[in-house]
Amino acid sequence: MVEAAVAAGGAGSVLFVKEPGLANRLQRLAVEESRLGIPLMFGFDVIHGLRTVFPVPVALAASWDPETIERSQAVAAREARAAGIQWTFAPMVDVTRDARWGRIIEGAGEDPYLGSAVAAAQVRGFQGDLGPDRVLAGPKHLAGYGASQGGRDYDEAEISDSELRNVYLPPFRAAVDAGAGTVMSAYMDLNGVPASGNRWLLTEVLRDELGFDGFVVSDANAVKSLETQHFAASPTDAAVRAVSAGLDMEMCMFDPAFRTLPQAVADGLVDEEVIDRAVRRVLAAKFRLGLFEQPYVDEGAADALLGAPAHRAAAREAAERSVVLLKNDGALPLEASALGSIAVIGQLADSKRDTLGPWVFDHVTDDAVTVLEGVRSRVGDDVRVVHAPGAGIPGRMFPSMFDRMDPTVEHTPDDHDDEAEIARAVALAEASDLALVVVGERQNQVGENASRATLDLPGRQLEQLQRIAATGTPVVLVVMSGRPLDLRWADEELPAIVQAWYPGTSGGDAVAAVLFGDVSPAGRLPFTWPRHVGHVPMHYAHLRTFDPEQQGRRYWEEPSTPLYPFGHGLGYATFAYSGLRLDRERIRVGEQVQVRVDVTNESGRDADEVVQLYVHQRHGRASRPVRELKGFRRIRLAAGETRTVGFDLGPDELRYWSASDRDWVQDATTVDVWVGGDSTADLATAFTVTEGADR
Ligand code: GLC
Repeated sequence: MVEAAVAAGGAGSVLFVKEPGLANRLQRLAVEESRLGIPLMFGFDVIHGLRTVFPVPVALAASWDPETIERSQAVAAREARAAGIQWTFAPMVDVTRDARWGRIIEGAGEDPYLGSAVAAAQVRGFQGDLGPDRVLAGPKHLAGYGASQGGRDYDEAEISDSELRNVYLPPFRAAVDAGAGTVMSAYMDLNGVPASGNRWLLTEVLRDELGFDGFVVSDANAVKSLETQHFAASPTDAAVRAVSAGLDMEMCMFDPAFRTLPQAVADGLVDEEVIDRAVRRVLAAKFRLGLFEQPYVDEGAADALLGAPAHRAAAREAAERSVVLLKNDGALPLEASALGSIAVIGQLADSKRDTLGPWVFDHVTDDAVTVLEGVRSRVGDDVRVVHAPGAGIPGRMFPSMFDRMDPTVEHTPDDHDDEAEIARAVALAEASDLALVVVGERQNQVGENASRATLDLPGRQLEQLQRIAATGTPVVLVVMSGRPLDLRWADEELPAIVQAWYPGTSGGDAVAAVLFGDVSPAGRLPFTWPRHVGHVPMHYAHLRTFDPEQQGRRYWEEPSTPLYPFGHGLGYATFAYSGLRLDRERIRVGEQVQVRVDVTNESGRDADEVVQLYVHQRHGRASRPVRELKGFRRIRLAAGETRTVGFDLGPDELRYWSASDRDWVQDATTVDVWVGGDSTADLATAFTVTEGADR
């Protein structure tokens, strides 16, 4: 069917082709048989690697390391291009503050500033100079998808203009400024108008405000779904309104609505110029990719490149830099020589498929290194490492096309006897010197179509953990998840907790390197870790609200403070901050102030620290968040080293979009500045911004 459509000139791009030979066969039909001979563009979801799988995107964001993120996506681009893919439907840049939403795993968390830095780094990595080993980047999903009501996937999002411009659009602006060649429109209704038929969004905002000059592609079947959403009256109405709104290409699995456009032009429903505009934008991308000069892929290149040792080493380093040490009362790092036996507990500890995470389609599952394998290879024969799968992890309550699309999804065996397996795991832990318990969600319990109504550990994992802890064997907890899970009991009762995310192909080795101290973890949370699902949505950059004692923000049952704050993460070194200083105490609107701080590694080992800068303005024409991230730097400090770290604060950091002015503004005000290792940093200073009067 695809071949016929291509030969007839019925498709300009094809998705889900990741085999060079097939790509060339389809390309030959397009270039040598179709009427116009225009080359195809091959697009695919290369979200966190193709054959070499990197940590999931939210984990890459947790590295707070744009260079590592850029390097990771450059490897992904190299493998994708060798496989015949020239365009990736990534980065996903949707900000979200709702842990129930499964796609939290695909983005960079809750913060527009971190999200913008990550978005730009990913675009640079994917596209670079758009040379022969790069791919077109496609930031998605424009816009506001992460604010879907109730964290329910595809659900409507009501977002004010100021919230849209101050929170949800900045990562798109950063991706566009980094040169992204395409943008993907979202499914959901934004303020009652589906994003894929939303002229204000796709033209006035994306093109007129953000200056985007590439092409806009719909999400899969999102044009046809304009009818499903009861926005369009027919496929023709859907196609005409989408292309008129500024949507240039329809991604569709079957029977595209855009097929009605020639007749719509003949019937005067849409000007031919509108179609020509869309075509020009897509052709420009194909020219940028050099497809007219070289439409075919070297079919011999992929084998040597895909999964290359250097790529796996890069994936391991990215995973080591993404792990977040949530709690450590000294139990970590582990000393192998002090251990006779380790019981590694949990189905996820030994699940290659889950170690890779969602949104992987060209993986070789056997290539993945699990936590169990990583620990075994790290300790060698010195320590007896035993494993028990333990508690089952219940599967989906409803059928999903995503499970049908991925035959490698791992499930708890149907004949699994939960009680017997838990008892066996507890007994093994009791008989060991250490219990390394791996808990979390299966990789298909997060991602698209995977929202959860609870943040509980699925199944009886918590009960199992409690029974293991009750044996008296020391417990170290490793969490594999893409969203924050309810760790209240573990935080109270266990000595050490490691957030391992889904760490990718070399994940188990990276987690073992952190556990045994070969690497001092420096990952930091890209989202607030709520205490309870009832607190969600939750984020650190909230307003101060009317409440003198600032007590109103609590619940009857418990405070609304997070379990772990945004930017949180521990390491095996301690860092001291001192000498916070400004080059000026007063500036005028539009001017910059330089911030400097001295950071000292007080430990006896080299280690990374993520220096974070937050600001708050005390008054102005709008209430502004109690804190906002406006600068960060991941630095490596040798043992005992002190380094001065500098940040500039100016209009780019201090202005915001004002609803009352319907424009970007900067207030004359007093600005508080904090610098430290997370969003609760208390080393503070302040400066005054004047309207431009005397200084
Ligand atoms: C999906 C997703 C989108 C993805 C596309 C193609 O429904 O929403 O992120 O790129 O379809 O797989």
